[in-house]
Amino acid sequence: MLVEKNVPLQPYNSFGIVARAHALVRMGREDDLRAVLDDPKLASQPKFILGGGSNIVLTGDVRSLVLKVEIAGRRLAGETERDWIVEAGAGENWHDFVGWTLAQGWPGLENLALIPGTVGAAPVQNIGAYGVELQDRFHSLDALDLDTGRRFTLDAARCGFGYRDSVFKHAAGPGGLGLAGRALITAVRFALPKAWKPELGYLDLERKWAASGVARPTARQIHDWVCEIRSAKLPDPRVLGNAGSFFKNPTVTPEQCADIIARDPEIVHYPMPDGTVKLAAGWLIDACGWKGKSVGKAGVHDKQALVLVNRQGATGGEVMTLARAIQTSVYERFGIRLEPEPVFV
Ligand code: EPU
Repeated sequence: MLVEKNVPLQPYNSFGIVARAHALVRMGREDDLRAVLDDPKLASQPKFILGGGSNIVLTGDVRSLVLKVEIAGRRLAGETERDWIVEAGAGENWHDFVGWTLAQGWPGLENLALIPGTVGAAPVQNIGAYGVELQDRFHSLDALDLDTGRRFTLDAARCGFGYRDSVFKHAAGPGGLGLAGRALITAVRFALPKAWKPELGYLDLERKWAASGVARPTARQIHDWVCEIRSAKLPDPRVLGNAGSFFKNPTVTPEQCADIIARDPEIVHYPMPDGTVKLAAGWLIDACGWKGKSVGKAGVHDKQALVLVNRQGATGGEVMTLARAIQTSVYERFGIRLEPEPVFV
């Protein structure tokens, strides 16, 4: 086992923030964690699991022992009457994995194309886009207990998926089953339906479909449309550092929504099955005049106000300052508290 010291983390976070890990160990296979736990000095240190680094804001050097997940591998793990069960190692690149499943003839993940990050990070925040969430295609995952190194398997119910949420984002509490900081995901399995149906309900996709004149698009066609939509709106992290949507879309009661509509009839809102109303955080931020603005080297993307960007050289502190300023103005104008999506480290 190699413990790397003083490792630059800029290449490992999509925001491109400059910071260092005091110590970092690469997890290429399950036994790498067991080797860490067998070392009394390393075993007792606090640990931070790093996947693709596409959902974090580094606010300084990382003092915890960084476990960088690089477990590779993808295979057909089995099949049922309804589904192909497809498995990938946690360190696999998400978008490459999606492309590979399509090439194998197992559609179902095409709406989730081009989401940055790794397969192992995908269940942590239950990634979602264009009408599909990870939980809609999830089968089960394997993880290692960070204290004992023992492997365990979780099905969807035990992952506690919610909107950009799972059991991996919550600390263990009285009666709570939170696994934040307690588990390292090693492999994820997906149930991809043999009777595949296109998901074209999201407005942007519907528009692409209508413009194409195609009667029944293939999964590859939907994949390509999703890539086009994302590329037009969302900055490529290799060019302009970012962590995707910076805030979750908030939900309000129908009464709160009616109150806001009375003042701002244009507000973008979606009624939810549970009776609440989801608001477009991007619209709220845009309405407060933030699109294209900057605080220091941290800025708001000029094509999607929900995305904060690193205009080269931003610190995590500048990103936090900008995020707080946005939260304050949205609260003052709409009475809504925006909740950040990425994790501050
Ligand atoms: N809008 C504005 N101004 C803006 C941004 C958005 O008016 O600056 C309006 C749009 O016109 C649209 C609405 O807000 O009517 C929603 O915008 P969009 O379709 O771009 O989606 P979003 O709600 O901003 C969510 C996810 C994205 C996901 C897209 C597509 C969250 C926090 N974000 O964004 O996920 O790709 O839908 O499904 O739920 C991510 O989580 O990192 C992410 C990129």
